[in-house]
Amino acid sequence: MPSIDVPLKRLTFGQTSRRDAWWFPPLITFLILSSFVGYASWAGIQNAHYTFGPYLSPLYSPLLFTADPSLLHHSWFGMQPAWFPWFITPAALILPAPAGFRLTCYYYRGAYYKAFWADPVNCAVGEPGFRGNNFRGENKVPLIVMNLHRYFMYLAIAYLFILAYDAWLGMWWDDGAGGKKFGMGVGTLIMCLNVTMLSLYTLGCHSFRHLIGGVFDRLSGKSSLRRNCYDCVSALNKKHMLFAWCSLFVVGGTDVYIRLCSMGIISDLRLF
Ligand code: FES
Repeated sequence: MPSIDVPLKRLTFGQTSRRDAWWFPPLITFLILSSFVGYASWAGIQNAHYTFGPYLSPLYSPLLFTADPSLLHHSWFGMQPAWFPWFITPAALILPAPAGFRLTCYYYRGAYYKAFWADPVNCAVGEPGFRGNNFRGENKVPLIVMNLHRYFMYLAIAYLFILAYDAWLGMWWDDGAGGKKFGMGVGTLIMCLNVTMLSLYTLGCHSFRHLIGGVFDRLSGKSSLRRNCYDCVSALNKKHMLFAWCSLFVVGGTDVYIRLCSMGIISDLRLF
């Protein structure tokens, strides 16, 4: 069979034969992720306005400590020790786990490698020349930390249970006589949506798919429990990018909603 010699030519930065708007997805990724990281960092150091009624912001859940005595019922370990520096807020204690999960996510890596350090700029688009041939992939420091993804996934799954419990607690309101009564507000629905979107994102994780059935060469019987679970995770995995973005927006939106209610800027609508 005759062979065809296709010479490889190094493209200069931004050089491409592509005619589509290849720069647009990385630009949008850059703007959205920068905005979210900026907002979450700001909200995380506020150490205030993260609850309203029975609602608790996902950026502060689980609430390990609180500096506010009126929020002790939300706190797992009571009052925040006085020796904590100002930047060690309850959010700063718990956000590294979900942040690490997203940071090492296979989908996000593909997106923000392009958007934040142009490696590559996009498919079939020339990279900055200064990198030369020193591509080290994720086998060496610092990007070798991406291999921690599966461990972040275990933590992320634990967070789903915590956030589901928060949504449940978001249905129990003070009855004015020292007890609780069942009720729902728009905030309750938002908290339920939050844990739903996070579940769709987390349970479609590539590492979770591997855990469920990817470790086998072949899955037994079409109707086996493992096979059914694997098919469900695979279905979610196909829409992993969609759920990655939706869940990011909903997490941020849930904090914004609870914060605005707490600040008295908007009123929570009680459904019953
Ligand atoms: Fe995206 Fe695991 S691959 S969360």
